Amino acid sequence: MIKIVITEKKVDSKDLNSSKIPHHVAIIMDGNGRWAELNGNDRIFGHRKGVEAVRSVVEGAGEIGIHYLTLYAFSTENWNRPREEVNALMGLLVHAILAETENLNKNNVSLRAIGDLKSMPAEVQENLAAAIAKTANNSGLRLVLALSYSGRWELVEAVKNMADELKNDKIDKSSINEELIGKYLPTFGLPDPELLIRTGGEFRVSNFLLWQIAYTELFFSQKLWPDYRKEDLFEAVNDFQKRERRFGKTSEQIRI
Ligand code: FPP
Repeated sequence: MIKIVITEKKVDSKDLNSSKIPHHVAIIMDGNGRWAELNGNDRIFGHRKGVEAVRSVVEGAGEIGIHYLTLYAFSTENWNRPREEVNALMGLLVHAILAETENLNKNNVSLRAIGDLKSMPAEVQENLAAAIAKTANNSGLRLVLALSYSGRWELVEAVKNMADELKNDKIDKSSINEELIGKYLPTFGLPDPELLIRTGGEFRVSNFLLWQIAYTELFFSQKLWPDYRKEDLFEAVNDFQKRERRFGKTSEQIRI
């Protein structure tokens, strides 16, 4: 009997083209619940294990020179989960922020957050603000946590803000274009991601950065988030580097 063994070659950071590292990578961290179930544990255990994946990926992103890493840690829709799970996730966030701040400083990572932060429990808001302040002077990777965030939420916010400005004659209808809309988004200043990774084997974008991903390259991994590590991030970046980004143009135009 012939046995075929396919050994998957792990991508090393040295295999990557350092001149083609995406500036901004966004990740939909999915699969914590299924990972926990597969391991005979409750969903919260999966989320806890997910923090180990976050640590590895943040380290890897810094290593290869990614400038922005945005993690979808809690969506607007996640508020609809059982209260027990929501509370546990909030507690885990506080714990992870407190436990990891020193590590972020060691790795020169600055922390920031996007989303409807006012809706987060006071304890999360306070600890988050403290960690953001403590890491503000770091000049390496910018780690962005999306909390109580959704793409539609931020578009609604932008429209509300623009409506006020139109009403008060601060802007004119004729001045509305893509650039101006971008300025009214609560995430203004965050560059569009070049690469969006989703783990957990689902093929959807789940209301994440809807405005910003118009031309983003998508990469879907079968791995459940708690199993994801920096080598998996390198694999996604390696795949990204082989793609031709045409932005609506032809291949010939791009190659000029
Ligand atoms: C999705 O898996 C994951 C989340 C909703 C939460 C992500 C949170 C963490 C990884 C922990 C804390 C994060 C930071 C940044 C410190 P799921 O529950 O939808 O999994 P399932 O699809 O298998 O049910």
